[in-house]
Amino acid sequence: MTTPRPGRLTAAIGGLAVAGLSVALALPAAAAGSTLQAAASESGRYFGTAIAANRLSDSTYTTIANREFNMITAENEMKMDATEPSQNQFSYGNGDRIVSWARQNGKQVRGHALAWHSQQPGWMQNMSGTSLRNAMLNHVTQVATHYKGQIYAWDVVNEAFADGSSGGRRDSNLQRTGNDWIEAAFRAARAADPAAKLCYNDYNTDNWSHAKTQGVYNMVRDFKSRGVPIDCVGFQAHFNSGNPVPSNYDTTLRNFAALGVDVQITELDIEGSGSSQAQQYQGVVQACLSVSRCTGITVWGVRDSDSWRASGTPLLFDGSGNKKAAYTSVLNQLNAGGTTTPNPTPTTPAPTPTTPPPTGGGSCTATYSEGQKWSDRFNGTVTIRANTNISGWQSTVTVRNPQRIIATWNGSPTWDSSGNVMTMRPSGSGALSAGQTTSFGFTVQHGGNWTWPSLTCTAS
Ligand code: XIL
Repeated sequence: MTTPRPGRLTAAIGGLAVAGLSVALALPAAAAGSTLQAAASESGRYFGTAIAANRLSDSTYTTIANREFNMITAENEMKMDATEPSQNQFSYGNGDRIVSWARQNGKQVRGHALAWHSQQPGWMQNMSGTSLRNAMLNHVTQVATHYKGQIYAWDVVNEAFADGSSGGRRDSNLQRTGNDWIEAAFRAARAADPAAKLCYNDYNTDNWSHAKTQGVYNMVRDFKSRGVPIDCVGFQAHFNSGNPVPSNYDTTLRNFAALGVDVQITELDIEGSGSSQAQQYQGVVQACLSVSRCTGITVWGVRDSDSWRASGTPLLFDGSGNKKAAYTSVLNQLNAGGTTTPNPTPTTPAPTPTTPPPTGGGSCTATYSEGQKWSDRFNGTVTIRANTNISGWQSTVTVRNPQRIIATWNGSPTWDSSGNVMTMRPSGSGALSAGQTTSFGFTVQHGGNWTWPSLTCTAS
Protein backbone atom coordinates (compact mmCIF):
# COMPACT_ATOMS: atom_id res chain seq x y z
CA MET A 1 0.00 0.00 0.00
CA THR A 2 1.30 3.40 -0.84
CA THR A 3 0.09 6.69 0.46
CA PRO A 4 -3.02 8.22 -1.04
CA ARG A 5 -2.11 11.81 -0.30
CA PRO A 6 1.65 11.97 -0.41
CA GLY A 7 3.97 14.52 -1.91
CA ARG A 8 2.72 18.00 -1.34
CA LEU A 9 0.59 17.07 1.62
CA THR A 10 3.29 15.15 3.42
CA ALA A 11 5.56 18.12 3.02
CA ALA A 12 2.88 20.46 4.30
CA ILE A 13 2.22 18.33 7.34
CA GLY A 14 5.91 17.99 8.06
CA GLY A 15 6.16 21.76 8.05
CA LEU A 16 3.22 22.14 10.37
CA ALA A 17 4.52 19.50 12.74
CA VAL A 18 7.81 21.33 13.04
CA ALA A 19 5.88 24.48 13.83
CA GLY A 20 4.09 22.55 16.56
CA LEU A 21 0.62 22.88 15.03
CA SER A 22 -1.93 20.13 14.89
CA VAL A 23 -4.37 21.50 12.34
CA ALA A 24 -2.93 19.38 9.55
CA LEU A 25 -5.99 17.16 9.34
CA ALA A 26 -8.13 19.75 7.69
CA LEU A 27 -5.94 19.61 4.62
CA PRO A 28 -6.41 16.27 2.84
CA ALA A 29 -9.49 17.21 0.81
CA ALA A 30 -7.52 19.87 -1.02
CA ALA A 31 -4.44 17.79 -1.74
CA ALA A 32 -3.78 16.24 -5.14
CA GLY A 33 -3.01 12.55 -5.34
CA SER A 34 0.21 11.71 -7.13
CA THR A 35 -0.74 8.10 -7.90
CA LEU A 36 -3.93 6.63 -9.34
CA GLN A 37 -4.93 5.00 -6.06
CA ALA A 38 -4.22 8.18 -4.09
CA ALA A 39 -6.19 10.34 -6.48
CA ALA A 40 -9.13 7.91 -6.58
CA SER A 41 -9.12 7.66 -2.77
CA GLU A 42 -9.82 11.38 -2.54
CA SER A 43 -13.40 10.63 -3.54
CA GLY A 44 -13.56 7.30 -1.69
CA ARG A 45 -13.05 5.25 -4.83
CA TYR A 46 -10.49 2.58 -5.69
CA PHE A 47 -8.26 2.28 -8.73
CA GLY A 48 -7.38 -1.28 -9.70
CA THR A 49 -5.58 -3.45 -12.19
CA ALA A 50 -5.62 -7.04 -13.40
CA ILE A 51 -2.58 -8.99 -12.24
CA ALA A 52 -1.12 -12.12 -13.85
CA ALA A 53 0.54 -14.56 -11.42
CA ASN A 54 3.40 -15.28 -13.81
CA ARG A 55 4.39 -11.61 -13.79
CA LEU A 56 4.74 -11.27 -10.02
CA SER A 57 8.46 -12.02 -10.36
CA ASP A 58 8.93 -8.97 -12.65
CA SER A 59 9.97 -6.13 -10.36
CA THR A 60 9.18 -3.34 -12.83
CA TYR A 61 5.67 -4.74 -13.03
CA THR A 62 5.16 -5.18 -9.28
CA THR A 63 6.67 -1.77 -8.50
CA ILE A 64 4.16 -0.01 -10.75
CA ALA A 65 1.29 -2.21 -9.60
CA ASN A 66 2.05 -1.65 -5.93
CA ARG A 67 2.50 2.10 -6.30
CA GLU A 68 -0.52 2.90 -8.48
CA PHE A 69 -3.31 0.46 -7.67
CA ASN A 70 -5.26 -0.61 -4.57
CA MET A 71 -7.71 -3.13 -6.08
CA ILE A 72 -6.49 -6.32 -7.69
CA THR A 73 -8.23 -8.72 -10.10
CA ALA A 74 -6.66 -12.04 -11.09
CA GLU A 75 -6.51 -11.86 -14.88
CA ASN A 76 -7.10 -15.62 -15.36
CA GLU A 77 -6.21 -17.41 -12.12
CA MET A 78 -9.66 -17.55 -10.49
CA LYS A 79 -11.57 -18.60 -13.59
CA MET A 80 -13.35 -21.95 -13.79
CA ASP A 81 -10.65 -23.73 -15.82
CA ALA A 82 -7.93 -22.53 -13.44
CA THR A 83 -9.66 -23.34 -10.16
CA GLU A 84 -11.37 -26.65 -11.04
CA PRO A 85 -9.27 -28.29 -13.78
CA SER A 86 -10.75 -31.73 -12.99
CA GLN A 87 -14.21 -32.07 -11.57
CA ASN A 88 -14.16 -31.64 -7.80
CA GLN A 89 -10.39 -31.18 -7.72
CA PHE A 90 -9.74 -27.58 -6.93
CA SER A 91 -6.52 -25.77 -7.67
CA TYR A 92 -5.94 -22.44 -5.96
CA GLY A 93 -2.16 -21.99 -6.14
CA ASN A 94 -1.98 -19.10 -8.60
CA GLY A 95 -5.13 -17.43 -7.33
CA ASP A 96 -3.78 -17.61 -3.79
CA ARG A 97 -0.46 -16.15 -4.92
CA ILE A 98 -2.24 -13.09 -6.28
CA VAL A 99 -4.45 -12.72 -3.19
CA SER A 100 -1.51 -12.93 -0.81
CA TRP A 101 0.50 -10.41 -2.85
CA ALA A 102 -2.50 -8.08 -2.74
CA ARG A 103 -3.11 -8.51 0.98
CA GLN A 104 0.55 -8.18 1.93
CA ASN A 105 0.50 -4.86 0.15
CA GLY A 106 -2.74 -3.75 1.76
CA LYS A 107 -4.86 -4.03 -1.37
CA GLN A 108 -8.36 -5.32 -1.92
CA VAL A 109 -9.31 -8.06 -4.36
CA ARG A 110 -12.08 -8.38 -6.94
CA GLY A 111 -12.92 -12.03 -7.61
CA HIS A 112 -13.24 -12.94 -11.29
CA ALA A 113 -15.23 -15.02 -12.27
CA LEU A 114 -17.38 -17.75 -10.74
CA ALA A 115 -19.61 -18.76 -13.67
CA TRP A 116 -19.00 -18.06 -17.36
CA HIS A 117 -19.58 -19.75 -20.71
CA SER A 118 -15.91 -19.19 -21.59
CA GLN A 119 -12.70 -20.57 -20.08
CA GLN A 120 -14.58 -23.57 -18.72
CA PRO A 121 -12.53 -26.67 -17.97
CA GLY A 122 -12.88 -29.40 -20.60
CA TRP A 123 -14.96 -31.64 -18.37
CA MET A 124 -17.55 -28.91 -17.90
CA GLN A 125 -17.75 -27.99 -21.58
CA ASN A 126 -19.06 -31.49 -22.23
CA MET A 127 -21.77 -31.37 -19.59
CA SER A 128 -25.41 -30.36 -19.80
CA GLY A 129 -28.69 -30.38 -17.90
CA THR A 130 -28.97 -31.05 -14.19
CA SER A 131 -25.46 -32.41 -13.83
CA LEU A 132 -24.02 -29.21 -15.33
CA ARG A 133 -26.27 -27.02 -13.16
CA ASN A 134 -25.14 -28.88 -10.04
CA ALA A 135 -21.48 -28.80 -11.09
CA MET A 136 -21.73 -25.03 -11.68
CA LEU A 137 -23.36 -24.43 -8.29
CA ASN A 138 -20.79 -26.64 -6.58
CA HIS A 139 -18.04 -24.65 -8.29
CA VAL A 140 -19.52 -21.33 -7.15
CA THR A 141 -19.88 -22.61 -3.58
CA GLN A 142 -16.39 -24.12 -3.36
CA VAL A 143 -14.48 -21.24 -4.86
CA ALA A 144 -16.41 -18.53 -3.00
CA THR A 145 -15.91 -20.48 0.23
CA HIS A 146 -12.18 -20.84 -0.38
CA TYR A 147 -11.79 -17.08 -0.78
CA LYS A 148 -14.41 -16.18 1.82
CA GLY A 149 -13.65 -12.92 3.63
CA GLN A 150 -10.92 -11.91 1.20
CA ILE A 151 -12.96 -10.64 -1.71
CA TYR A 152 -14.37 -7.11 -2.02
CA ALA A 153 -16.65 -8.10 -4.92
CA TRP A 154 -17.16 -11.22 -7.02
CA ASP A 155 -18.04 -11.28 -10.68
CA VAL A 156 -20.53 -14.06 -10.01
CA VAL A 157 -21.70 -14.37 -13.60
CA ASN A 158 -19.75 -13.07 -16.58
CA GLU A 159 -20.99 -12.25 -20.10
CA ALA A 160 -24.37 -14.00 -20.07
CA PHE A 161 -26.09 -11.67 -22.56
CA ALA A 162 -26.04 -11.83 -26.34
CA ASP A 163 -24.49 -9.18 -28.55
CA GLY A 164 -26.62 -7.56 -31.24
CA SER A 165 -30.20 -6.40 -31.22
CA SER A 166 -31.96 -9.21 -29.33
CA GLY A 167 -31.32 -7.94 -25.81
CA GLY A 168 -31.63 -11.53 -24.66
CA ARG A 169 -29.41 -14.15 -23.14
CA ARG A 170 -26.40 -15.63 -24.89
CA ASP A 171 -26.79 -19.26 -25.84
CA SER A 172 -24.43 -21.47 -23.80
CA ASN A 173 -24.41 -24.79 -22.02
CA LEU A 174 -25.15 -22.92 -18.78
CA GLN A 175 -28.06 -20.98 -20.32
CA ARG A 176 -29.52 -24.26 -21.59
CA THR A 177 -29.78 -25.51 -17.99
CA GLY A 178 -32.62 -22.97 -17.56
CA ASN A 179 -33.04 -19.20 -17.47
CA ASP A 180 -32.75 -19.16 -13.68
CA TRP A 181 -29.10 -20.28 -13.74
CA ILE A 182 -27.87 -16.74 -13.07
CA GLU A 183 -29.96 -16.17 -9.97
CA ALA A 184 -29.09 -19.65 -8.73
CA ALA A 185 -25.41 -18.75 -9.02
CA PHE A 186 -25.94 -15.48 -7.12
CA ARG A 187 -27.79 -17.25 -4.29
CA ALA A 188 -25.01 -19.85 -3.99
CA ALA A 189 -22.36 -17.11 -3.89
CA ARG A 190 -24.23 -15.15 -1.20
CA ALA A 191 -24.55 -18.27 0.95
CA ALA A 192 -20.82 -19.03 0.60
CA ASP A 193 -19.44 -15.51 1.23
CA PRO A 194 -22.03 -13.14 2.66
CA ALA A 195 -19.52 -10.27 2.99
CA ALA A 196 -18.54 -10.08 -0.67
CA LYS A 197 -20.44 -7.77 -2.98
CA LEU A 198 -21.94 -9.82 -5.80
CA CYS A 199 -21.69 -8.42 -9.33
CA TYR A 200 -22.98 -9.24 -12.77
CA ASN A 201 -20.20 -8.39 -15.27
CA ASP A 202 -20.39 -7.90 -19.04
CA TYR A 203 -19.04 -6.01 -22.09
CA ASN A 204 -20.84 -3.91 -24.73
CA THR A 205 -23.19 -2.72 -22.02
CA ASP A 206 -21.75 0.80 -21.89
CA ASN A 207 -24.04 2.52 -24.40
CA TRP A 208 -27.46 3.14 -22.87
CA SER A 209 -29.24 2.78 -26.20
CA HIS A 210 -27.88 -0.69 -26.98
CA ALA A 211 -30.26 -3.64 -26.68
CA LYS A 212 -27.70 -5.59 -24.65
CA THR A 213 -27.48 -2.80 -22.09
CA GLN A 214 -31.26 -2.78 -21.78
CA GLY A 215 -31.35 -6.56 -21.41
CA VAL A 216 -28.92 -6.50 -18.50
CA TYR A 217 -30.70 -3.52 -16.96
CA ASN A 218 -34.02 -5.38 -17.04
CA MET A 219 -32.47 -8.43 -15.43
CA VAL A 220 -30.97 -6.37 -12.60
CA ARG A 221 -34.27 -4.56 -12.06
CA ASP A 222 -36.06 -7.92 -11.92
CA PHE A 223 -33.46 -9.32 -9.47
CA LYS A 224 -33.81 -6.32 -7.17
CA SER A 225 -37.60 -6.54 -7.24
CA ARG A 226 -37.57 -10.24 -6.37
CA GLY A 227 -34.81 -10.10 -3.76
CA VAL A 228 -32.20 -12.01 -5.74
CA PRO A 229 -28.90 -11.08 -4.01
CA ILE A 230 -27.10 -8.73 -6.40
CA ASP A 231 -25.03 -5.76 -5.21
CA CYS A 232 -23.21 -4.46 -8.25
CA VAL A 233 -22.86 -4.40 -12.00
CA GLY A 234 -19.46 -4.53 -13.65
CA PHE A 235 -18.80 -2.80 -16.97
CA GLN A 236 -15.79 -4.42 -18.61
CA ALA A 237 -15.14 -1.38 -20.82
CA HIS A 238 -12.92 -2.85 -23.56
CA PHE A 239 -12.91 -0.07 -26.13
CA ASN A 240 -11.42 0.46 -29.57
CA SER A 241 -12.20 2.51 -32.68
CA GLY A 242 -15.07 0.22 -33.64
CA ASN A 243 -16.43 0.32 -30.12
CA PRO A 244 -15.59 3.74 -28.70
CA VAL A 245 -16.46 5.15 -25.29
CA PRO A 246 -20.11 6.20 -25.65
CA SER A 247 -21.05 9.82 -24.93
CA ASN A 248 -23.95 8.59 -22.81
CA TYR A 249 -21.77 6.46 -20.51
CA ASP A 250 -22.67 8.50 -17.44
CA THR A 251 -26.37 7.98 -18.22
CA THR A 252 -25.85 4.22 -18.33
CA LEU A 253 -23.97 4.15 -15.04
CA ARG A 254 -26.48 6.47 -13.36
CA ASN A 255 -29.48 4.44 -14.51
CA PHE A 256 -28.03 1.17 -13.24
CA ALA A 257 -27.05 2.78 -9.94
CA ALA A 258 -30.61 4.04 -9.56
CA LEU A 259 -31.71 0.40 -9.37
CA GLY A 260 -29.89 0.19 -6.03
CA VAL A 261 -26.63 -1.43 -7.10
CA ASP A 262 -23.04 -0.21 -7.15
CA VAL A 263 -21.46 0.12 -10.56
CA GLN A 264 -17.79 -0.52 -11.30
CA ILE A 265 -15.59 -0.24 -14.38
CA THR A 266 -13.98 -3.67 -14.22
CA GLU A 267 -11.64 -4.30 -17.19
CA LEU A 268 -10.93 -0.94 -18.75
CA ASP A 269 -8.64 -0.76 -21.76
CA ILE A 270 -8.85 1.54 -24.79
CA GLU A 271 -6.89 0.78 -27.95
CA GLY A 272 -5.05 3.72 -29.49
CA SER A 273 -2.36 6.20 -28.54
CA GLY A 274 -1.60 9.80 -27.72
CA SER A 275 -4.18 12.45 -27.04
CA SER A 276 -7.15 10.63 -28.56
CA GLN A 277 -6.59 7.65 -26.27
CA ALA A 278 -6.00 10.02 -23.36
CA GLN A 279 -9.26 11.82 -24.05
CA GLN A 280 -11.28 8.62 -24.10
CA TYR A 281 -9.77 7.48 -20.82
CA GLN A 282 -10.64 10.84 -19.34
CA GLY A 283 -14.24 10.39 -20.48
CA VAL A 284 -14.55 7.06 -18.70
CA VAL A 285 -13.13 8.47 -15.46
CA GLN A 286 -15.41 11.49 -15.71
CA ALA A 287 -18.46 9.24 -16.20
CA CYS A 288 -17.58 7.18 -13.12
CA LEU A 289 -16.87 10.24 -10.97
CA SER A 290 -20.24 11.73 -11.90
CA VAL A 291 -22.13 8.79 -10.37
CA SER A 292 -21.98 8.47 -6.61
CA ARG A 293 -22.39 4.68 -6.72
CA CYS A 294 -19.57 4.18 -9.21
CA THR A 295 -17.18 2.84 -6.60
CA GLY A 296 -14.03 2.27 -8.62
CA ILE A 297 -12.21 1.65 -11.87
CA THR A 298 -9.98 -1.30 -12.80
CA VAL A 299 -7.73 -1.32 -15.87
CA TRP A 300 -7.07 -4.68 -17.52
CA GLY A 301 -3.31 -4.88 -16.99
CA VAL A 302 -0.33 -2.73 -16.05
CA ARG A 303 1.81 -2.04 -19.16
CA ASP A 304 0.81 -2.27 -22.83
CA SER A 305 3.04 -5.31 -23.10
CA ASP A 306 1.05 -7.06 -20.34
CA SER A 307 -2.26 -6.56 -22.16
CA TRP A 308 -4.35 -9.38 -23.66
CA ARG A 309 -4.44 -7.15 -26.74
CA ALA A 310 -0.93 -5.76 -26.57
CA SER A 311 -0.86 -4.74 -30.25
CA GLY A 312 -3.57 -2.15 -29.52
CA THR A 313 -1.41 -0.51 -26.80
CA PRO A 314 -4.56 -0.03 -24.69
CA LEU A 315 -3.17 0.60 -21.18
CA LEU A 316 -1.75 3.46 -19.09
CA PHE A 317 1.96 2.47 -19.08
CA ASP A 318 4.08 1.67 -22.12
CA GLY A 319 6.07 -1.52 -22.47
CA SER A 320 8.98 0.01 -20.54
CA GLY A 321 6.75 1.06 -17.67
CA ASN A 322 6.66 4.77 -18.58
CA LYS A 323 3.49 6.74 -17.89
CA LYS A 324 1.58 7.48 -21.11
CA ALA A 325 -0.51 10.55 -21.94
CA ALA A 326 -3.52 8.42 -20.97
CA TYR A 327 -2.06 7.99 -17.46
CA THR A 328 -1.74 11.73 -16.99
CA SER A 329 -5.26 12.40 -18.20
CA VAL A 330 -6.68 9.76 -15.83
CA LEU A 331 -4.70 11.12 -12.88
CA ASN A 332 -5.69 14.70 -13.61
CA GLN A 333 -9.33 13.80 -14.01
CA LEU A 334 -9.31 11.85 -10.72
CA ASN A 335 -7.76 14.85 -9.01
CA ALA A 336 -10.26 17.22 -10.62
CA GLY A 337 -13.02 15.20 -8.98
CA GLY A 338 -16.56 14.63 -10.08
CA THR A 339 -19.83 16.46 -10.07
CA THR A 340 -21.10 14.48 -7.08
CA THR A 341 -19.55 13.19 -3.89
CA PRO A 342 -19.53 9.40 -3.58
CA ASN A 343 -21.67 7.99 -0.80
CA PRO A 344 -22.11 11.38 0.86
CA THR A 345 -24.10 10.03 3.78
CA PRO A 346 -24.01 6.61 5.41
CA THR A 347 -26.98 4.55 4.23
CA THR A 348 -27.41 3.36 7.80
CA PRO A 349 -26.55 5.62 10.72
CA ALA A 350 -23.06 4.83 11.90
CA PRO A 351 -23.28 3.26 15.35
CA THR A 352 -20.99 4.49 18.07
CA PRO A 353 -17.79 2.47 17.92
CA THR A 354 -17.75 -0.22 20.55
CA THR A 355 -14.13 0.01 21.61
CA PRO A 356 -12.60 3.14 23.10
CA PRO A 357 -9.30 4.13 21.57
CA PRO A 358 -6.38 2.62 23.44
CA THR A 359 -3.23 4.62 23.73
CA GLY A 360 0.42 3.69 23.84
CA GLY A 361 2.70 4.31 26.79
CA GLY A 362 6.38 5.11 26.90
CA SER A 363 7.62 8.28 25.41
CA CYS A 364 4.97 8.66 22.72
CA THR A 365 1.20 8.39 22.71
CA ALA A 366 -1.12 7.41 19.85
CA THR A 367 -4.64 8.84 19.86
CA TYR A 368 -7.40 7.93 17.45
CA SER A 369 -9.88 10.39 16.03
CA GLU A 370 -12.79 9.65 13.78
CA GLY A 371 -12.93 10.93 10.22
CA GLN A 372 -15.60 10.69 7.56
CA LYS A 373 -17.92 7.68 7.58
CA TRP A 374 -19.61 5.97 4.66
CA SER A 375 -21.91 2.98 4.50
CA ASP A 376 -19.01 0.64 3.76
CA ARG A 377 -15.92 2.36 5.15
CA PHE A 378 -14.63 5.04 7.51
CA ASN A 379 -11.59 7.25 7.79
CA GLY A 380 -9.48 7.56 10.91
CA THR A 381 -6.57 9.71 12.00
CA VAL A 382 -3.87 8.77 14.48
CA THR A 383 -2.10 11.60 16.25
CA ILE A 384 1.33 10.75 17.58
CA ARG A 385 2.42 12.88 20.52
CA ALA A 386 5.97 12.85 21.80
CA ASN A 387 6.04 12.79 25.61
CA THR A 388 9.78 13.38 25.68
CA ASN A 389 12.22 14.32 22.91
CA ILE A 390 12.26 11.37 20.50
CA SER A 391 14.28 10.66 17.38
CA GLY A 392 11.67 8.41 15.78
CA TRP A 393 8.45 6.47 16.28
CA GLN A 394 6.37 3.66 14.91
CA SER A 395 2.71 2.95 15.49
CA THR A 396 0.69 -0.22 14.97
CA VAL A 397 -2.95 -0.07 13.92
CA THR A 398 -4.88 -3.31 14.44
CA VAL A 399 -8.26 -3.78 12.78
CA ARG A 400 -10.70 -6.61 13.40
CA ASN A 401 -12.18 -8.93 10.78
CA PRO A 402 -13.74 -8.39 8.37
CA GLN A 403 -12.21 -4.91 8.48
CA ARG A 404 -9.40 -4.07 6.09
CA ILE A 405 -7.32 -0.92 5.77
CA ILE A 406 -7.66 0.04 2.11
CA ALA A 407 -5.80 3.35 1.94
CA THR A 408 -3.32 5.33 4.04
CA TRP A 409 -1.70 8.75 3.95
CA ASN A 410 1.17 10.63 5.57
CA GLY A 411 3.29 7.62 6.47
CA SER A 412 5.00 4.45 5.23
CA PRO A 413 2.95 1.38 6.09
CA THR A 414 3.98 -2.27 6.28
CA TRP A 415 1.65 -5.19 6.94
CA ASP A 416 1.67 -8.46 8.80
CA SER A 417 0.62 -11.61 7.00
CA SER A 418 -2.92 -11.56 8.42
CA GLY A 419 -3.54 -8.15 6.86
CA ASN A 420 -5.00 -6.96 10.18
CA VAL A 421 -1.95 -5.25 11.64
CA MET A 422 -0.41 -2.27 9.92
CA THR A 423 2.82 -0.78 11.23
CA MET A 424 3.10 2.86 10.27
CA ARG A 425 6.43 4.65 10.23
CA PRO A 426 7.08 8.29 9.38
CA SER A 427 7.79 8.95 5.69
CA GLY A 428 10.67 11.28 6.59
CA SER A 429 12.37 11.96 9.88
CA GLY A 430 10.32 10.90 12.87
CA ALA A 431 12.07 13.25 15.27
CA LEU A 432 9.73 15.17 17.58
CA SER A 433 10.46 17.24 20.61
CA ALA A 434 8.50 16.84 23.83
CA GLY A 435 4.89 17.88 23.34
CA GLN A 436 5.04 17.92 19.54
CA THR A 437 2.52 15.98 17.47
CA THR A 438 2.28 14.54 13.98
CA SER A 439 -0.41 12.45 12.40
CA PHE A 440 -1.26 9.89 9.74
CA GLY A 441 -4.54 8.66 8.37
CA PHE A 442 -6.22 5.65 6.83
CA THR A 443 -9.47 4.28 5.40
CA VAL A 444 -11.02 1.12 6.86
CA GLN A 445 -13.41 -0.99 4.78
CA HIS A 446 -15.51 -2.14 7.75
CA GLY A 447 -17.75 -4.94 6.45
CA GLY A 448 -20.33 -4.02 9.10
CA ASN A 449 -17.85 -3.92 12.00
CA TRP A 450 -17.58 -0.31 13.22
CA THR A 451 -15.11 -1.02 16.02
CA TRP A 452 -12.27 1.46 16.22
CA PRO A 453 -8.81 0.08 15.58
CA SER A 454 -6.47 -0.44 18.52
CA LEU A 455 -3.20 1.46 18.53
CA THR A 456 0.28 1.33 19.94
CA CYS A 457 3.10 3.84 19.75
CA THR A 458 6.77 2.97 20.22
CA ALA A 459 9.37 5.73 20.33
CA SER A 460 13.06 5.49 19.55
C1 XIL B 1 -8.86 -12.38 -20.88
C2 XIL B 1 -7.43 -12.42 -20.38
O1 XIL B 1 -6.95 -11.10 -20.31
C3 XIL B 1 -6.56 -13.24 -21.31
O2 XIL B 1 -5.27 -13.43 -20.74
C4 XIL B 1 -7.21 -14.59 -21.55
O3 XIL B 1 -6.47 -15.30 -22.53
C5 XIL B 1 -8.64 -14.45 -22.01
O4 XIL B 1 -9.35 -13.67 -21.08
N1 XIL B 1 -13.55 -10.43 -20.58
C6 XIL B 1 -13.23 -10.95 -19.35
C7 XIL B 1 -11.83 -11.30 -19.04
O5 XIL B 1 -14.11 -11.05 -18.48
O6 XIL B 1 -11.73 -12.40 -18.19
C8 XIL B 1 -11.02 -11.54 -20.29
O7 XIL B 1 -9.66 -11.73 -19.93
C9 XIL B 1 -11.19 -10.40 -21.25
C10 XIL B 1 -12.62 -10.25 -21.66
